[in-house]
Formats: sequence, C-alpha cells, structure tokens
Amino acid sequence: MKKVFLLSGTFIVGVVVAGALFVALSWDREHSAPLPDIRASNDSAVIARGKYLAFGPAHCASCHVPMEDIAAVEAGAEIPLSGGIEIAIPLGVFRAPNLTPDPETGIGKMSDAEIARALRFSVGHDGRCLMPFMPFQEMSREDMVAVISFLRSQPPVRHRVEPNEYSVLGRILLAFGLMKPQGPQQPPPQSVLPDSSVEYGRYLAHSVANCVGCHTNRDLQTGEFIGPLFAGGMRFGPDELSQGYVFVAPNLTPDPETGVMAHWSEAQFIARFRSGRVHPGSPMPWGAFAQMKERDLKALYRYLRSLQPVRNSIAQVVYAPGEPLPASD
Ligand code: HEC
Ligand code: HEC
Repeated sequence: MKKVFLLSGTFIVGVVVAGALFVALSWDREHSAPLPDIRASNDSAVIARGKYLAFGPAHCASCHVPMEDIAAVEAGAEIPLSGGIEIAIPLGVFRAPNLTPDPETGIGKMSDAEIARALRFSVGHDGRCLMPFMPFQEMSREDMVAVISFLRSQPPVRHRVEPNEYSVLGRILLAFGLMKPQGPQQPPPQSVLPDSSVEYGRYLAHSVANCVGCHTNRDLQTGEFIGPLFAGGMRFGPDELSQGYVFVAPNLTPDPETGVMAHWSEAQFIARFRSGRVHPGSPMPWGAFAQMKERDLKALYRYLRSLQPVRNSIAQVVYAPGEPLPASD
C-alpha cells in the first residue's frame, strides 16, 4: 500500500515538474503570421483619417499615452502616443507601448508591415502573442494604412515603457495555447465607405470602436464571447483605472425592457456621446468617442437599432468601492 502511494506521489511530482518546465520553456515562444503588404503614406488626407481614427473611434490614444495624461486625452488633447497605460488582468500587468517613431523606445525600428501584423494578427514585432486589447483584425486595409501613416507622422518621443509582467496563469495559458494570437475571422475589406449607414455602423462597432468587445459578456481568462452579442453583462474592475469602482456593461440591443438605449432617439444618442463621461473610472473611452463625427454616431445608432432585441437585464451598472456585488450579472 505504502509503495503505491510512494509511486503515485513520485508520479504526481514528476508531472508537476514536467508541466512547470514546459510552461517555463514555452510560454513566450515566437508565433508566426503573414506580414501584410501595407505601407505608410505621406498623403495629408490619409494621415488626417488616421489621426481621426486614433483619437476618435479607434481610441488608440485612450491606451497609448502616459498614465498622467489620461485626463488630458479625455478632454480632447491630441498628444503624441508615447505609451504607458497599465492594464491589470488575471493574466498579468500589460503596458501599452510607445507608438511614436523614436528608434529606441518607440516604433522607429519596426516596419510598417510589422505594425500591421500586430493589428491584424496579434503577433508583436518580436513574435510574441499580444493580449486581446486591440480587436482591429478586420479593420479595412485603407484604414490600417491611414492609422500607420498617422503614427509615422508624429514627432518621436523618447519614453521607455516598462515591459509586461505575466502572471503564472498568463504563462500557463500562453504555454498551452489557450491564449494565442487571433487573426481575422473573415478577409478584411479593402475599404469601407464612411457614411451614416447600418453597414458602416456595423464596421465601426465590430472592427474599429470595439463596442462589441465590451458590451458582450466574455470569459475574463480567455476573452471568448460567452453571451449574446451587444447584450451586456461584462464586468470591469475594481482596479486602479476604474478608481475602485466596478462597472457592468449595459445591454445595447433594442429590447424595450432591458436595453439601455431602446427608448433613445437618434438625437438623444448623439447628445449622450457629445456630453462625454458621466462615471469617473468607467472603462468606456467616452473622451475619444466624444470626438466622433455625427455621421459615425448616426451609423452606430442605426446599426445598434437594427440588432435582434435580447432580453438581458443588467440590474445595476456602477458599484461604488466596497459595495457588495450580485453573485451573477
Ligand atoms: C484598450 C487599450 C488599447 C487600445 C485601444 C489600443 N492599444 Fe495598442 N496595445 C495595448 C497594449 C496593452 C499593448 C501591449 C500588448 C501586449 O504586449 O500583449 C498594445 C500593443 C500595441 C502594439 C504592439 C507593438 C509591438 O510590440 O509589436 C501596436 C503596434 C499597437 N498596440 C498599436 C495600436 C494602435 C494603432 C491602436 C489604435 C488603432 C491601438 N494600439 C489601440 C493597448 C491598447
Ligand atoms: C472598454 C469598454 C467599452 C467600450 C469599448 C464601449 N463601451 Fe459602452 N459602456 C461600457 C461600460 C462599462 C458602460 C457603463 C458605464 C458608463 O456609462 O460609462 C458603458 C455604457 C454605454 C452606454 C450607456 C450610457 C448611459 O448613459 O446610460 C451606451 C449607449 C454605450 N456604452 C454605447 C457604446 C458604443 C456605441 C460603443 C462603441 C462605439 C461602446 N459603448 C464602447 C464599456 C464600453
């Protein structure tokens, strides 16, 4: 009997050691993905479109700036994207890198194609799997060229951003491929005509502004969608960025009883976006979205109103620090 225990004990220790060794050796392995044939342009109209996307709907500026500049960006300041915001999730602490053309601390040494690959396939310039903070996989080719052209047009800023700190869970998920680079689900469009149509609203909500990524319930460890699209329920915080509050994303589908905007007119929707942030610490980039053109807001409204209503009651959206949370939401 004793011998059996001893043997199985040795076996378990062996498995644990082998597992730990595997994780240690393979969590930061290099991934491969095609280098998109994308090149930055000097055309001022292309750069202007890229700048609009970066400070508006695509909100690169809400993450790729120093922590102390968050308030200025929220208020509409257009400062160089020198990186720095820290996002703490169960997989570790992740820091948005410097996107100005500085060769030592920014994107100066990265090629246009490497930047495009990071956005299209979530593979970093060094082959690392990038965490799913940037769901731009299906951004149109034209918009990707515009964003990268804008990045290249900024003044270089020397600002070293500390590397990420991966948790044990993060390393395990990466080593076993449970977290891996995500590419496009369908071929990205060449270009999408910006207008106030449902079609353009769908493009913004899914591939540019990430409304879908926050307003859909997700598994916080893998990022997978576990609820109906746009029906809300995903929880944020409490952490430093949320100022200790917990937020639950509301249901954006046009369900008359549980949809937060089911009774809003288009004018009310636009006015809500123009007025910006109401709740300090909310993860929604209200400041960037307040910069959106009326055309884009109309398109978003029309698209969200075209969705199938989903009954999903989000009882409370904001919980003050220390306020008890419901078991499920
Ligand atoms: C929600 C926050 C957030 C937004 C919005 C965001 N980023 Fe990022 N970005 C990050 C974080 C965090 C990382 C580091 C991820 C990692 O290392 O796993 C990153 C990494 C990158 C990288 C990878 C560089 C490398 O090492 O290869 C590029 C390029 C980039 N972002 C560009 C952009 C652009 C362009 C936009 C807007 C179109 C954008 N990001 C929007 C948070 C964000
Ligand atoms: C990073 C996460 C995130 C993103 C991206 C995001 N939201 Fe939100 N949104 C939230 C959270 C959390 C709340 C609740 C707290 C608040 O109102 O700020 C919210 C609230 C809202 C509300 C209700 C506001 C009110 O006054 O009741 C609307 C409408 C909305 N979002 C629409 C959108 C649309 C449209 C997009 C895309 C253009 C979007 N959201 C992108 C997280 C997000």
